[in-house]
Formats: sequence, structure tokens, C-alpha cells
Amino acid sequence: MSYIHKKQCRICKGTELTQVLSLGDHPPVDNFLSNIQIKDENRYPLNLYFCAGCSLVQLLDVVDEEELFHGEYAYFSSASKPLVDHFHSYAEDLKNDNMQEGDLIVDIGSNDGVLLQFFTGTHRVLGVEPSSNVADLAREKGIDTVDGFFTTKMAEDIVAKHGKAKVVTANNVFAHIDNIDEIVRAVKILLADDGVFVTESHYLLDLVSKREFDTVYHEHLCYYSVKPLMHFFQRFDMEIADVRRVSTHGGSIRVYARFATSEPIPESVQELLVLEEKEGLHILSGFSSFQTDVDTIREKLVGLVRGFRAEGKLVTAYGAPAKGNTLLNFCGFTPDDILYITDTTPYKIGLLTPGSHIPVVSPDILQSETPDYILLLAWNYRDFIIEKEKALRERGAKFIIPIPTVEII
Ligand code: TMP
Repeated sequence: MSYIHKKQCRICKGTELTQVLSLGDHPPVDNFLSNIQIKDENRYPLNLYFCAGCSLVQLLDVVDEEELFHGEYAYFSSASKPLVDHFHSYAEDLKNDNMQEGDLIVDIGSNDGVLLQFFTGTHRVLGVEPSSNVADLAREKGIDTVDGFFTTKMAEDIVAKHGKAKVVTANNVFAHIDNIDEIVRAVKILLADDGVFVTESHYLLDLVSKREFDTVYHEHLCYYSVKPLMHFFQRFDMEIADVRRVSTHGGSIRVYARFATSEPIPESVQELLVLEEKEGLHILSGFSSFQTDVDTIREKLVGLVRGFRAEGKLVTAYGAPAKGNTLLNFCGFTPDDILYITDTTPYKIGLLTPGSHIPVVSPDILQSETPDYILLLAWNYRDFIIEKEKALRERGAKFIIPIPTVEII
């Protein structure tokens, strides 16, 4: 077993930490398996804690990053067209608001180059990516990519070779890092004086208000809201210059941080602080019904799926995202419940989902076969997928939507 249980908050180092959600023991969600790997699976506790000191919601059970992100990684950002479109418009925002042609942009956790591809030709780009199989895809697109985890040493090397960066980004990765102090120290080395450090992370407000419990998994160590992030950047003589809500992954926040100035707290930051306060994100009692609500979703889903199976219906699932594995394992689904899952990611096809061991197959199967019910695990692309699968629905297939409320359409 390779995990540790922390006793301190990642941001304020406080120790008054209270569990607000327990999902049981789960295998790492991106460790898809071949048939012969089933026997070697490890499971680790998946519990969320609230810090009384700074309100950060976080995991304290930290699985060794080698086990989570080593060599082969199953998540390819470019596998979902709506996500590519999102990064395209994100790139346009950065070009218009923060950069000039020729400026250097460094993306930490650059995956297959989904963001940086929109800067090649006009700006200088550098990716940092520890998973070599996805980094190779970025290189094939002509994106210079450094292998490894981002550290102060790496930042010094990058500055020596490329100079300072006008923009440093960390998307859906800033919440993945256990030692965020080290990341910000490294960012400060790399960032130009007038530079901006931009992160996108799943937003706690969306997670709690829409009961997006499946977005909880071992890779996501922090579940950010604005208040703890303000606290965090202050510790490093930095500040939040702007914050925007974006729709990715069920609701995220894009946070723009810069070196501290004497300017007042921006309106966008103040607005979200007020909203978070109102929604109870800054106090423990704000989470009092979270566990019960999540348990209710599980009861409904299990009742529906097992009920349909008892009637002899064919039940499958759509999309094998990381979060889908939290949902499948939390519900205890097996191939007896869900016969197969279709996913567009070539890497995942032919493998089994971690824990639940459901086969992932090519979406081509849906050309010739019409499941009675399809559990939409990639619910964050609901509108896109429902539109794309019009013909399938006309043939009689119904989708089970798990989040934010269980419904059949
Ligand atoms: P994500 O929500 O973490 O981006 O993962 C979405 C997963 O769903 C990814 O494995 C690709 C898959 N997918 C499909 O199979 N079909 C689709 O139409 C879309 C949008 C995603």
C-alpha cells in the first residue's frame, strides 16, 4: 500500500480537520486494467475533509503520485471535443488580455498540448508533463514538452534556457498537487514581474450545490473555493487579480494570480466570496446534508440499474471518465449491472475499469446495438452527447443522467 494520511491542512497548516464526505475505499480512477492486472489492484480511502482554519476542502489520504501519474496515463484532454473548444476560447482570452506575440507561456500538466496548441506560431510555448505517453502526443504536435513534475529546480532550468514566462498555466492540475507551496515557489521563479499565473480547477460551489460527488478521486487533492485560495496566495506575497466561473467539468473556476500590488480586492473576487459565504462553504455546518444527499443519489441509481437488469434490460454506460470510476465503485456496479462502457479514447478501449472491471469498448458498437438504458458517466457533456446521439435515442435507447439529479431521458 502506498499512501499516507496527512494531519495538516495544505493551505493554512491547521489541524482542525473534519470529515464531510466518505465514499469508501477506491482504486485510483485512471488505472484502467488489462485482464491480467485485476488481481494486483490496490484500494485507498476516499474521504473529504473541511479545514476550520481556512475552509479548504481536501483529501488527507494521499496516494503515491507514482501510482497515480506514472508512465502511462489514461486521461487525454483532447479526447472530448467540447473540452478542446473550451481550451481554444481560453487561449483567445489569454492572448487578448494577458499576452503579446512572442511571449513565453508555460503550461504545467500540459497533457497532450490541448491548450498550448493554440499558441504555436505566434507565441513561445513550453509544456511540463510527467506522463510520458501523453507528453509524446504533444511533441507530435510540435509542442516542446519537458518530462517530469514541476519543481523550483525545473523552474530555474526553464528560466536559464527560455527566460521568464508571461503566463504560467496549471489547468485541472493545481488541485492534484500535494505540495502546492513548492509549486507556487517554482511559479514565482518562472513568472515575469508583470506575469500572471492562471489555474482552472473544479469549483467547490458547483461540487456541493450540484452534488458532483463523483469528481472526488485520489488525483484531486484540493476542492477549491476562493476564500482559501486568497489566503494561500497571500502567504506567498501574491494576490488574485481576477476569477471567472467556467463550465468545464461540471463547473470550474479560473483564477488569475499575480505578484501582490496595492490595488483593492477585485470585484469578481468579492462577488464569489459573498456567494460562497451565502452557500455555507466557509462553515462546517454548510456541509451537513452532503453525505445524505450523495447516499440518496447512490440508492436511486442502484435501484434503477438493478431494477432494469431484473427486467432483463440491456444496461450500458457512456464515457469512461475518471469520475465515472468513482461513481461505479461507490455504487458497487459490476459487469452484471453494466455490460460495457463506450468511450472515444483509443487508450481505454479494450481495458477494464478499475475496481468495477467493466469492459471499455469502442462507440462503434452503438451503430449495431441499441442498449435499453445508458448510464451517462460523462454527464458534463450532456447537451453535446444527447445531440450527437439523437439517432440512438430515436431507436429507443434512454439515457440515465446521474448528476445533478437522477433522471431518465
Ligand atoms: P472528462 O469528463 O474527464 O473530460 O472525460 C470524458 C470521457 O468521456 C473521456 O474518456 C472521453 C469520453 N467521451 C466519449 O466517449 N464520448 C463523447 O462524446 C465525449 C464528449 C467524451
